[in-house]
Amino acid sequence: MTSQAVSENSTIQIGSRVLSSRYFLAPLAGYTHLAFRRALRELGGLGLATTDLVHATALVSLNRKSLELIETHAKDKPLSIQIFGSQPEALASAARWLEDRGYGGVDINMGCPMAKVNGQGGGARIACEADSACRLVERVVNAVDVPVTVKMRLGWDSDSITAPELAAAFEDLGVAAITIHGRTRAQGFHGAVDHEGIRKVVEAVREIPVVGNGDVRSVEDAFAMRRETGCHAVAIGRGAMLDPWIFRKIEQAVRGETPDEPSPDEQIDFLRRHFWLMTAQHDDYACTLFRKFAGWYGAKLGVPEDLETRLRKFQSFDEFESIVAEIRTRHGERESSVATALIKVPNGPVERW
Ligand SMILES: Cc1cc2nc3c(=O)[nH]c(=O)nc-3n(C[C@H](O)[C@H](O)[C@H](O)COP(=O)(O)O)c2cc1C
Repeated sequence: MTSQAVSENSTIQIGSRVLSSRYFLAPLAGYTHLAFRRALRELGGLGLATTDLVHATALVSLNRKSLELIETHAKDKPLSIQIFGSQPEALASAARWLEDRGYGGVDINMGCPMAKVNGQGGGARIACEADSACRLVERVVNAVDVPVTVKMRLGWDSDSITAPELAAAFEDLGVAAITIHGRTRAQGFHGAVDHEGIRKVVEAVREIPVVGNGDVRSVEDAFAMRRETGCHAVAIGRGAMLDPWIFRKIEQAVRGETPDEPSPDEQIDFLRRHFWLMTAQHDDYACTLFRKFAGWYGAKLGVPEDLETRLRKFQSFDEFESIVAEIRTRHGERESSVATALIKVPNGPVERW
């Protein structure tokens, strides 16, 4: 395992921010909320987390849901807030608003900013779209001092790979890093992640870090992403849900140690910690919010079906604790299976993710 480690300093700099690890949490809307991020950080090895995408205009209008998404904690650092929207001024206002409130980084969700290159006038339209993407990025970069990063896909489809060109343009405008999900919009979540495509983005920029993203599920995958693409950092989304210890394991492997597998008790402690941190933000409503994680923890921990069913509908803190106590005594009864299918992904082309 450790022989596969890429040689590296563990620290990385993104704009003015120095991060202690180059392995980041990619945003998974609906999953990577404050409680999960805090529980994950306590396990170690996480360099940077990013919130779910937050609509810029809704945020500055103090929309309740948006404010909830940006809720954080002294121990939830370093954190970037991901914003999206089509109006440059609205994005710039949201970025300023965040900076004024002490947030340390802004990530722009570009989704797929450019249309398919096809037919007559395709080239002109692309130039126009690239121009508006650049104007948007420029407004945000000029509005704040905190580092501004951009997350995007490779392009519209395999005939319209636009990310390298855009990444180079964004760097010239002052963007501090680019995260690139190695798939096209047309691919959605299907097909393999294109390491060569990510490499082209790495080669297109001059100095800024490129964060490779997509399908990293293990320490080996993370090192392969670095080796095969030359990317400077790696963002892990679903892989962190499936194995929250992945960052700690990578950190151990980078140090030349053999990564530890968490014991069943540690895993159950994580489940409990996740829930109790959720109650700190949502009080009783955490009982409802936590249910969506029941299937995931159930499969991962080999929780017997009847207990998983109870975890899907518990109503009180006491009931939660009594289920956890039973999980501790009975968790081995069902075989644990870590199935990616438990994290639902959109079926078709993806606009924003
Ligand atoms: C359920 C779900 C929610 C997501 N939400 C976001 C989001 O809010 N912002 C974003 O930039 N990407 C989002 N993504 C995309 C991920 O950040 C990531 O680019 C993608 O899942 C590939 O990485 P992975 O294989 O490590 O998960 C989401 C993906 C999933 C499956």
